[in-house]
Amino acid sequence: MKDLEGKEEYGREVFAKHKGVFKWGINVIPTYMWYNGKGERYLLGDKLDPNKVLELNRPMGSIKDPKAKIYPFKVHTGKQPYDVKYKYLLAFRVWKALWSDYNWQKAIELGTKEMGLPYSGNFDFVRTAYYISARHEVAPKEMALTCNDCHF
Ligand code: HEC
Repeated sequence: MKDLEGKEEYGREVFAKHKGVFKWGINVIPTYMWYNGKGERYLLGDKLDPNKVLELNRPMGSIKDPKAKIYPFKVHTGKQPYDVKYKYLLAFRVWKALWSDYNWQKAIELGTKEMGLPYSGNFDFVRTAYYISARHEVAPKEMALTCNDCHF
């Protein structure tokens, strides 16, 4: 883990050693997706393909689905440890573990033991995406998108 200077952007921190780099923005354009109110979800022990981005809770729906509408989402992307042998996400402990000694191996051993999840001892990182519906801090209704914002 790196040690960086803690400069600020918009009065907020841009780096915390235990969390990483923060990039702040104003008037950020969300990710738009068809959504019918239902979502897929990753559950403990589900198998994953380490060569793909693992979508933890992809919203369901498509243009062909009469129940779907276009919704705004905030997509959290990251990398999370998975078991190289068992091909599933690993649990890891942060408090009094990773966030203080920065030792992934130890944090995973503690986390998987507490969860009762078998761990082969070999981990690597898989890219992940997590979708959060953007319902807060949205623009006022006068600034809502009109047809021409998307259709030219
Ligand atoms: C957030 C962006 C967005 C806004 C705002 C929006 N649309 Fe759309 N619209 C889309 C997308 C994306 C599609 C699907 C295009 C595709 O997959 O071919 C679509 C599809 C359509 C279609 C079907 C086109 C087809 O070929 O089947 C119509 C009609 C349409 N929109 C009309 C409207 C009207 C009228 C408004 C304003 C009231 C509007 N749209 C606002 C994004 C938008």
